[in-house]
Amino acid sequence: MEKLTRRELIDNYLKFFESKGHKIIPSASIIPENDPTVLFTTAGMHPLVPYLLGNPHPEGKRLCDVQKCLRTSDIESVGDDSHLTFFEMLGNWSLGDYFKKEMIPWSYEFLTNILNIPKDKLYFTVFEGNENAPKDNESYNLWLSCGIDESHIFFLSKKHNWWELGSGSGPCGPDTEMFYDTGKPKCSESCNPSCSCGKYLEIWNDVFMEFNCNNGVYTPLEHKNVDTGMGVERTLTVLNGEKSVYDTEIFKDVKEELERLTNLKYEDNKKSFRIVMDHIRTSIFILGDDHKLAPSNTGAGYVLRRLIRRMIRYIKGLNVEASILESLANTVIDKYSCDYEELSRNKEYIISELLKEEERFNKTLNSGLRMFNKITSHLVNNTIDGTNAFKLFDTFGFPLEFTIELAEEKNLKVDIEGFNEKFKEHQEKSRTASKGEFKGGLADNSYESTKYHTLAHITLACLKEMFGPSVYQKGSNITPERLRMDFPLDHKMTDEEKTILENKINEVIKMGIDVVREEMSYDEAKNSGAEGIFTDKYGSLVSVYTIGDVSKEICGGPHVKNTSELGHAHIVKEESSSAGVRRLKIVLE
Ligand code: SER
Repeated sequence: MEKLTRRELIDNYLKFFESKGHKIIPSASIIPENDPTVLFTTAGMHPLVPYLLGNPHPEGKRLCDVQKCLRTSDIESVGDDSHLTFFEMLGNWSLGDYFKKEMIPWSYEFLTNILNIPKDKLYFTVFEGNENAPKDNESYNLWLSCGIDESHIFFLSKKHNWWELGSGSGPCGPDTEMFYDTGKPKCSESCNPSCSCGKYLEIWNDVFMEFNCNNGVYTPLEHKNVDTGMGVERTLTVLNGEKSVYDTEIFKDVKEELERLTNLKYEDNKKSFRIVMDHIRTSIFILGDDHKLAPSNTGAGYVLRRLIRRMIRYIKGLNVEASILESLANTVIDKYSCDYEELSRNKEYIISELLKEEERFNKTLNSGLRMFNKITSHLVNNTIDGTNAFKLFDTFGFPLEFTIELAEEKNLKVDIEGFNEKFKEHQEKSRTASKGEFKGGLADNSYESTKYHTLAHITLACLKEMFGPSVYQKGSNITPERLRMDFPLDHKMTDEEKTILENKINEVIKMGIDVVREEMSYDEAKNSGAEGIFTDKYGSLVSVYTIGDVSKEICGGPHVKNTSELGHAHIVKEESSSAGVRRLKIVLE
């Protein structure tokens, strides 16, 4: 059988859902706007949270897309057969429109008629029920009515058949998952699709969003939604019977380029090649985003830095002396720029940031080597202890393998267990830290956060009035407690400027202006002078929020009805965010 290509899978999916009345919307940015809960967009539903919570979407109630996604929790696992940091996710949504009885037969139709998967190869899981939601008999019966044998359907617990954002808050509900049977023998009598032995591979997930979860409290949503997700790379691998995601045509060009540049074969250097192929693609999608994120030591910038440095380390491990990042980057950009034009638009930026980071890393590498020599000049038992091995890893970016190799050259040992302990401690710390990031935010869609969304529009308009039209919103972050906004300015704001800004904002609030939402085409919005930076984010129809003659912005909302609802704004902080960028923190009192 001819192998399915990425293009075919994407086109088939989107066309199928278009034929079922869905509007195809473009992928949103990979860096979530106004959402402090995560650093990157992790699923297709993520940019749609406001609409899943009830805000009207300008394109209607049936949507589908292919979304750029990034999940960083598994960076260290990249190199095996299946882990990727960047991936594309196909998805379709019902925003309070159809539900299970439409979605399940459509899933069946797509899998068997469009992807031509034999019915016998398909297995399904459904939710067994718990104290928050009942057993999902409806989905079970719907699969049966599609003609699925009951031996192919399994009831599983919340751990397997419930979907919510990593934060645990936001829209959520039971799901039904679809699996492909690879034909491998069962690993045990009780082997079923929840087993990770590799017999059953998940290809699609239909989430039936009936609840909104806020701090562990589940409230039924007024409108029931459907949210489905199919990972492009993974599904291609499974359907084409490939052993690994890296064997699909998605990685063909970059793999060949890497073989050419290193004069080595992928087959002989799988782990390093896979890490380089994954990390270059992910770095390019982060750098190519119109947010113009750069490597740094915090948040998303730090993830980018780790990806680039880890990739460089593995390239060095392949004994490549010359810089090959530019050639690799060009190959990936060429492959994807017809679907994601931001990559060609930002090509120069992508390449210059990659090269700058490479140069910076080469510098730390040398100081790391100096530290290595210092550590090894006074050792106990000829062994580098866990603390020092971890210091080399954490501060100088030396992976354990690298330290071991260097140590072996000097006939020294490394305390691997000690390193692993330190590493675990560190991971736990960062996990706790990232859990902290998940608190609050857009996902709660609370009235308090809504006020801050409106405050963001007013603040931007006032900044423009004070510092000229070139001021734009470089980033913003909203919680129910405050607004944080970054904008370009060449100096620290003086106390007087801060007072003027605060007064201007409060004047607009006091004027009690209605906040009006309209739908128009993207071009109409742009021509009307509406603010909106992220050009790859919007569908053909957009919603525009206007606050009298103060502000007009393309925005998904939500917003308050009238500015008077905001009360009183107070600037609590003005500080530098990065070179030429200021950061404001404003609270409503
Ligand atoms: N949100 C669900 C997932 O990520 C379905 O799209 O699997």
